[in-house]
This record gives sequence, structure tokens and C-alpha cells, in this order.
Amino acid sequence: MIKDSFNRVHNYLRVSLTDNCNLRCFYCMPEEDYEFTQASKLMQPSEIEELAKIFVQEGVNKIRLTGGEPLVRKDAAQIILSLSRLPVDLSLTTNGARVHDFINVFLEAKIKSINISLDTLDADKFHIITRRDIYRQVKDNIGLLLQHHIKVKINVVVMKGLNDMEIVDFIAWTKDEPIEIRFIEFMPFAGNRWTSNQVVSLEDILQKVSSRYNYHSLPGGTNDTAKHYQVSGHAGSFAVISTMSAPFCSTCNRMRLTADGKLKNCLFSETETDLLGPLRKGEEVLPLIHECIAGKAKALGGQFSGLFENIEANTIHNRSMITIGG
Ligand code: GTP
Ligand code: 5AD
Ligand code: SF4
Repeated sequence: MIKDSFNRVHNYLRVSLTDNCNLRCFYCMPEEDYEFTQASKLMQPSEIEELAKIFVQEGVNKIRLTGGEPLVRKDAAQIILSLSRLPVDLSLTTNGARVHDFINVFLEAKIKSINISLDTLDADKFHIITRRDIYRQVKDNIGLLLQHHIKVKINVVVMKGLNDMEIVDFIAWTKDEPIEIRFIEFMPFAGNRWTSNQVVSLEDILQKVSSRYNYHSLPGGTNDTAKHYQVSGHAGSFAVISTMSAPFCSTCNRMRLTADGKLKNCLFSETETDLLGPLRKGEEVLPLIHECIAGKAKALGGQFSGLFENIEANTIHNRSMITIGG
């Protein structure tokens, strides 16, 4: 079992497959020219499998593949299929652009649920946010997943003045579709042009929903990042991921492996533990994993609690989001 010094059991591993992406969302990438990690520095499929097996032996029962965009990797299908043979709940977070190329892989891997990042329901705004014109493709691919009975959660990073006026439109989408819309408070990462006045808080989000709808809370899982709600009579539901105004660190069960094989014990940790180097040298990685998680802080999300208005973006030294995978 992997436990930290606050007795939190860590059974959820997020594995970033690449820091490359086929979209260019401004809130995720650093402002300056960004060089993607060289292929030789990325974990190879056999290395991902070997590391995953070590985590599984230590009690990990949930693995989420992330990026950048996990599906731009040429060997993504091979990685998905190899991890699907482990006794874990395997899922991924994707921008949805290439889902149509992978639908058979998802079915073969028995993937039950996929999280899709989609911040707007307006094709022009999609271009402003992502600098690509594939809104229709993403929407069609969400339909394709639902058609194949794969559960879909939509991740919406809410930013004031950009897409907060669409909250009610996203809720309208849940009327007939059995999707979960997850509104995410905008978080600061190195170079992502975050400012506190762009954050739309849990409270503000719920207020916008209640301007048009009656909703109620739904129960959630013990380690959920999201608080769940539903509009009465709707087929789908919605949720809020409130890292900035109401963090959920006390129930954190998550570890992150970056695409270059470094273990991060928290989304906001500035330190990381190299696992890939030692693995390549034939050294034992298990003690490194335990040591890394033992050193986890109580609540780095909590550092924002109630005070996110005071954060200066230039004091954030974490990796950029594209290299962590959320
Ligand atoms: P489920 O397993 O479906 O609940 O997904 P998830 O929320 O674990 O993962 P996803 O990749 O869909 O991430 C959604 C949002 O939650 C992203 O903005 C992530 O950065 C954020 N998130 C995921 N895990 C953590 C975490 O441990 N801490 C914080 N603060 N945010 C997280
Ligand atoms: N704040 C909140 N969520 C973010 N994501 C990416 N960058 C940020 C940010 N700065 C989300 C993506 C994706 C998930 C992995 O993280 O939209 O859905
Ligand atoms: Fe876990 Fe860190 Fe996220 Fe808090 S901020 S929930 S400790 S990963």
C-alpha cells in the first residue's frame, strides 16, 4: 500500500503519455515557444507497463492516461491495450480530436469512461481557445462514445468573460444526454497567463446555474475531485472541481507520472522523483515511490483556500499543465 504521512492511501495513478498536443489551448501551454520532449526521453510502452505493474502491486486500482494529448502518441493503442490487461479501472482524459481513430481500441480495452476537455459550445470560441478548427469533430466524437455506451465526462475550464456565460448552455446539454459536465476552476501553472480575476468560483458557478435551473446535490465517491449536482429531470448531471475556492486535498489519492518518467506527489508539487532513470539502470524504484509519496504536503491545493485572489501568477514555479496532464 502506498500511504503518505497523513495516512492518505494512494491508489490512483495518472500517467502522462506525452507533453505533445494537437491543440494549443492558451491556459495549458506556456506563453513562450515550447519545445516538446524528445522521444528518447519519454517512457517507452514496455517501461510504462513495468512501472504500472509496480504501482498495481502496491494497491493502485485506477490508472488515467493523460497528456498533453495522450492520443497523439503513435504507440498510444499499444499502451492502452497493455494497461487494459492489468486489474485496474483504466481511463483517459483527451481533447477528443482523435477519438474516432481509437474507438475500436477503447472497445477492445473495455474502457468504460472517458473524460473530454471541451471549454465551449461555440465553434468560433473553440478556435480562440485552442487555435484549431475541429469543434465539429470533437462534438461528433462525443456522440460516437455515447453511441458505444462509453460514459463521457466533459471538462470545462471556466474563465470569466470567456465562457462563464455558457454555463447554462452546458447545463442545457445535460437535459437529454447522459453526460456529466464538470466545471473546473481555472488554476495557475507556470506561464499559463492565469490571473485571479479570471477564476469563476464554485459559488459563482452554482449561482449562474440557479439563475435558470433548480438543481440538487448528488452523492460522490470518497476520493472525488468533483462535487456533483443534477437538474431535476435531466438525463445527465453536472459537477464542479473547486481546487481554488474549496480544495479537496484531505481525500487526495492521486500520484502523477510525467511522460519523462518523473513521479509527482501533488499537482502543485515543485519537486519530483525520477523513476525512469533508475528503471533504465536496473535499480529498484519501489523505495523511491514510497519516499516520494511520504514527502507529500498536506494540502498544496489548500494553499489557495479562500485566498486565491492574493496569488501572484509569477510566484508559480510548477511545471506547465501540458507537461503534467492535469
Ligand atoms: P475522474 O477520475 O473521472 O474523477 O477524473 P479526474 O477528475 O481525476 O481527472 P481529469 O483528468 O478529468 O481532471 C479534471 C480536472 O481535475 C483537471 O483540471 C485536473 O487538473 C483536476 N484534477 C485532477 N486531479 C486533481 C488533484 O489531485 N488535485 C487537483 N487540485 N486537481 C485535480
Ligand atoms: N486549470 C484548470 N484545469 C485545467 N486543465 C488544463 N489546464 C487547466 C488549468 N489551468 C484541464 C484540462 C483537462 C484536464 C486534464 O485539465 O481542460 O481537461
Ligand atoms: Fe492532491 Fe495536491 Fe490536488 Fe491537493 S492539490 S488534491 S494534495 S494533488
